[in-house]
Amino acid sequence: MADEALGHVCPPSVIKWLNSPLRKLLQNPKKIMGAYVKPGDVVVDLGCGGGFFSVALAEMVGENGRVIAADLQKEMLDITRDFAAKRGVLERITLHQCYAEDIALSEEKVDFVLAFYVVHEVPNRKEFLRQVSQIMKPDARFLLIEPKHHVTPSQYEGILNEANSAGLKLLTNVKLPFSRSVVFGLES
Ligand SMILES: C[S@@+](CC[C@H](N)C(=O)[O-])C[C@H]1O[C@@H](n2cnc3c(N)ncnc32)[C@H](O)[C@@H]1O
Repeated sequence: MADEALGHVCPPSVIKWLNSPLRKLLQNPKKIMGAYVKPGDVVVDLGCGGGFFSVALAEMVGENGRVIAADLQKEMLDITRDFAAKRGVLERITLHQCYAEDIALSEEKVDFVLAFYVVHEVPNRKEFLRQVSQIMKPDARFLLIEPKHHVTPSQYEGILNEANSAGLKLLTNVKLPFSRSVVFGLES
């Protein structure tokens, strides 16, 4: 795929597919994130879209935990709010609107960061990844997942190099259908 494919922002009309219950058959949030999230954690779902993963994260962190569901688009946050309310976990979720070039969460220190099918849409990936590293607690994990149909192996390699320059240390590759995925910690 050509480089210009990167940077296109997913429209809210796609959420009916991304929030489909059938998605769990291939991308089950609890199977994907269960090893990294525990009750009481503070976690961030960056580029949360319609909240498919934010709601699952809210169930995983429990009533003493907190999920920051962050997105560029207010309409996505509205969909996440409605979805979380229906699932009874809205009180565990803080909705946060980002800027295209600033995630604007510098006050936070979190246990886990998720960016599911997001980084290829971000205009300034280096800065985004640097800001992710800044909000991570020393032993936090960052799960980055990119879609194979939008991100070529060489583009993915570029993202991994940018993450490495931002102080993120590749811990393990993760196998997920249709996806390229990795878990990062912080460089010590
Ligand atoms: C393909 S959707 C994925 C949504 C969700 N993570 C999921 O897997 O269901 C990408 C989301 O990232 C958001 N996004 C794109 N660029 C962003 C940025 N710079 N900061 C925050 N969110 C961003 C878009 O608004 C969109 O909601």
